[in-house]
Parts: sequence; C-alpha cells; structure tokens
Amino acid sequence: MTPQLQRFENRVVIVTGAGHGIGRAVAERFAAEGARVAVNDLSEARATEVAAAIGGHSMAVPCDVSGKAAVDAMFDRVLARFGRLDVLVNNAGNIHAARHFLEADEAWWDQLLDVNLKGSFLCAHRAAHIMVRQGGGVIISMSSGGATRAHRGNVAYDASKGGIEAMTRAMALDLAPYGVRVNAVVPGLIRTYDLDEEGAVERGKVVPLGRLGTPEDLAGPTVFLATEDARYITGACLVVDGGVLVQQRSPQVETFPLSRYPAI
Ligand SMILES: NC(=O)c1ccc[n+]([C@@H]2O[C@H](COP(=O)([O-])OP(=O)(O)OC[C@H]3O[C@@H](n4cnc5c(N)ncnc54)[C@H](O)[C@@H]3O)[C@@H](O)[C@H]2O)c1
Repeated sequence: MTPQLQRFENRVVIVTGAGHGIGRAVAERFAAEGARVAVNDLSEARATEVAAAIGGHSMAVPCDVSGKAAVDAMFDRVLARFGRLDVLVNNAGNIHAARHFLEADEAWWDQLLDVNLKGSFLCAHRAAHIMVRQGGGVIISMSSGGATRAHRGNVAYDASKGGIEAMTRAMALDLAPYGVRVNAVVPGLIRTYDLDEEGAVERGKVVPLGRLGTPEDLAGPTVFLATEDARYITGACLVVDGGVLVQQRSPQVETFPLSRYPAI
C-alpha cells in the first residue's frame, strides 16, 4: 500500500533493528510518508540493503544498540546528516533465543537484557536529550505480549519486555513536561521468521482474528503513534495482536458458528 498521507515530510526518524521484519516495515512506512529515515541494524548488510531499497532521504546506520559508544556514534552520524531527530523507534530485539529456565545462564540473560532493554534505554536516553532541546519528539519501543503473559522458555525475553513497558511509563512521566511522548507497541504472533504456509495457517488458528500478523500490520499503528493524531497519547502500550492477549481460551476450544443463531 502506498500511503496518501505525507505526515513526516522533513521529519527525521531512527528505527533500530530495521534490517528485517517489523522494523523494516516500520522504516518503509515512515519513508513512504516523507520521513528521512536512519536504518539501524546489527547487520551492516541488512541496514545497507534496506536503506538502498528505501532510497531518497535515508541512511544506513548499522551498529549494536547494546553498546553506548556505538549508539552515540550512530546518533552523531544522524545529526550530522539530517540536523535533527523527531522520532526514535526502539525495535531491535532478539526473538530467537528461547531456552528452558533450567538451561539458563548468565550470558543468555545478559545478551537478551543488553539488546532488548539496555539498548532501548541507551537509544532513548540520547534521543531524549536531543528532543527536549528541540522542544518535542516521540519515542516508541517494541514490547511483546510476553510483558504481561508468559512465553514458555522465555524468562529473559519476557523480563526484558516487562522492563520495556515499565520504562515506557516512567520515561513518559519524566519527558511529558518537555513535549516528548513515549509509548510502546505490543505485537502478537508476527510472521518474521521462516515458516511454511501450512505451519503459518496452523499457528494462526490460535489467534482470534484467525491468522498470524505480518510486519505490515505493525507499521500503521507504530507510525500512528508518532503522528499529530496521537498528540495526547503518552505512557501507553498499544496492543496489535489480533486479539491474542485478551483471550482466555484459543478459538479451537470454543467456537460459536453463525449457524447456531436464527436470523432476527
Ligand atoms: N515477531 C514477533 O512475533 C514479535 C512479537 C512480539 C514482539 N516482537 C518484537 O518486535 C521487534 C522486532 O522483531 P522481529 O520479529 O521483526 O525480529 P527480526 O529478527 O525479524 O528482526 C530484528 C532485527 O533486529 C536486528 N538486531 C538484533 N540485535 C540487534 C542489535 N544488538 N543491534 C541492532 N540491531 C539488532 C536483527 O539483525 C534483525 O534484523 C523485537 O523487539 C521483538 O522482540 C516480535
């Protein structure tokens, strides 16, 4: 879809982990709405490829968001090229590290917390300093349903996402007086990894809306949080999950076919 709106002309956006999956779709959507987009990823090849695909006013800023020196250098590059920063999307995260708690170790915990939580803190802290001096800005972080309902084998991941939501609320309070809004997006089961069609249909059956999400399903809601229409929203966690978090039982367990009900 090519959006008709150009809500981000001359606005500067950094999206972390934008070389793949949800981050890529978010970066592409901001660019389609006129933004200058800095495409971050741990993988230089991915960041370069996405920035080239976006074209126009975009730049690749590969780095590991879990290191302060690298994050500072990334922000310096963006400021040197574009001169300002309007939106930060903390999206970089590791979704491929499930381990049973009995197999957990310190390195596993540190890696997940460093990327998912500390990386978001480092980027948000630098962004906030720039934004408060500019008189405003928007910080958005990718959480997960795991922040409130547990994934098996994901103690560290879920702890990092619980931290994201707590950090979002606390940053929102500290930064509200300076016109900086801070929110989180809560994706559900999003198909960003290799899965055949049959597997996708099967997994999608547990979702009330009947299918897995796509990265594009996240792009519109994430971009919305950065628009003027969201000007009174801060400290919020916007759930974009096809109904997964609110359900007690999955759809296969309890179905109510329309044929049960006589027409009225
Ligand atoms: N896919 C889902 O079902 C799902 C569900 C809930 C939340 N999320 C969250 O959404 C975000 C994106 O997930 P995705 O499914 O698109 O993942 P993905 O694996 O498709 O993409 C993540 C990107 O982040 C990059 N990255 C990883 N570590 C990094 C680092 N240290 N510094 C910079 N970049 C790094 C990777 O190279 C990759 O390109 C993550 O924060 C994830 O936790 C995803």
